[in-house]
Amino acid sequence: MRSFAGRDILSLKDFERNEFFRVFEAAEKLEPIARNRRNSDMLREKTLVTAFYQPSTRTRLAHESAMLRLGGSVTGFADAKMTRAGDWYQESIKDTVKMLEFYGDLIVMRHFQLGAPHEAAKWASVPVINGGDGWGEHPTQILTDLYTVLREKGRIDGLKWLAVGDMRMRTMHSLGYALTQFDCPITFVAPPADALFDKSPDMQMPESFKADFKEYGLNFSEAEHVEQAIAEADVILVEPVMQPDYTKARDERKGDEGFTPDNYKITRELLAKKAKSDAILLHSLPRMDEIPADVDITKWSRYWQEAFNGVVMRMALIALVMGKME
Ligand code: NCD
Repeated sequence: MRSFAGRDILSLKDFERNEFFRVFEAAEKLEPIARNRRNSDMLREKTLVTAFYQPSTRTRLAHESAMLRLGGSVTGFADAKMTRAGDWYQESIKDTVKMLEFYGDLIVMRHFQLGAPHEAAKWASVPVINGGDGWGEHPTQILTDLYTVLREKGRIDGLKWLAVGDMRMRTMHSLGYALTQFDCPITFVAPPADALFDKSPDMQMPESFKADFKEYGLNFSEAEHVEQAIAEADVILVEPVMQPDYTKARDERKGDEGFTPDNYKITRELLAKKAKSDAILLHSLPRMDEIPADVDITKWSRYWQEAFNGVVMRMALIALVMGKME
C-alpha cells in the first residue's frame, strides 16, 4: 500500500481497496477524541490552510474542527472575494498556492473549477485535499459516507446501494469510483432533461463517468423512479435535484422550496411502505425538500451520524497525510 504521508487526496478514482480500510481504521482509532470532546496534541506543530472559493458549511468547518481536535492550528479564507484571487487581479491558482504553502502544512481547497485542487497540488510542496471541485469530485465526503456505512452496518461488501439526485454532483462521481473497490451494486435515479421544468438540465450520470465505471467494473444500473429500486436497497444516498450552479463561485438565486418531484423524494410513507426495515439513509446536506424533516426521527435516517463522522474522517485523513499515523 502506498504511504499516505505527504500525499494529496484529490480523487477516489485512484484509491485502492486496502487504502479505504486503512483510512477507516485510522478514523476508528481517532473517533474517541471527537466523541469525548477531549482534544489531543498530535498535530500541535502543524497548521491547516483552508482555501474555499465556494460556500461551505460542513466541509470547511469539519476540516477545521478536525485539525483543532488534533491540536493543530487553522488559517485560511472562506470567501475568495476577500483575496486577490477574487477581485480585479484574479490571481491564478499557481500564484495563490505558492503563497499558501508558506502559511501552513496542508491545504484544503474547494473550487468552482473542475480540477482546481489538482492544479494546486501540482504547485504546492504541501499536501492538498480536494474539498469539492465544480461538478468533479468530493472524495472526503464519500470517505465519510463509506465509513458511516461500515459503522452502521458493520460491513461494506455485499450491500446494495441506491443513489438518488442530480448525478452531476461531485459526491456521486466519487461514490461511483469508490464502489468499484467493493462488492456493492448501485442503482442511480436522476431526472432526465426537462423533467423538473421546461428546459431543466439532464441530471443523469454523465457518459464520461459511466464509461469509467464500466471500465473499472462497477455493477451499476439506472432507474427512473425511486419506487422502482428502493425495496432492494441497503444504503440509500440522496442529494438534491434542485441545485445551485456548482461551476460558479456563488449562486445568488434563492432555491425554490417544495419543488422536488416524487420520483426523487424519500418520504416517511415511501420508507414505511417499501424500504428494507434495516436500510440506512444518507445525505451529505444541505437538503431541500427531497427528504422532508419528518424523516429525521425515523429508524432509517443516518445523516446526523454521517455529519459527526465527517469530523472523524477528516481527522483521520489529516493525521495520515501529515505522517502522524502510518
Ligand atoms: C456539499 C455542498 O455543500 O453543497 N455538501 C457537503 O459537502 N456536505 C455537496 C457537494 O459539495 O457536492
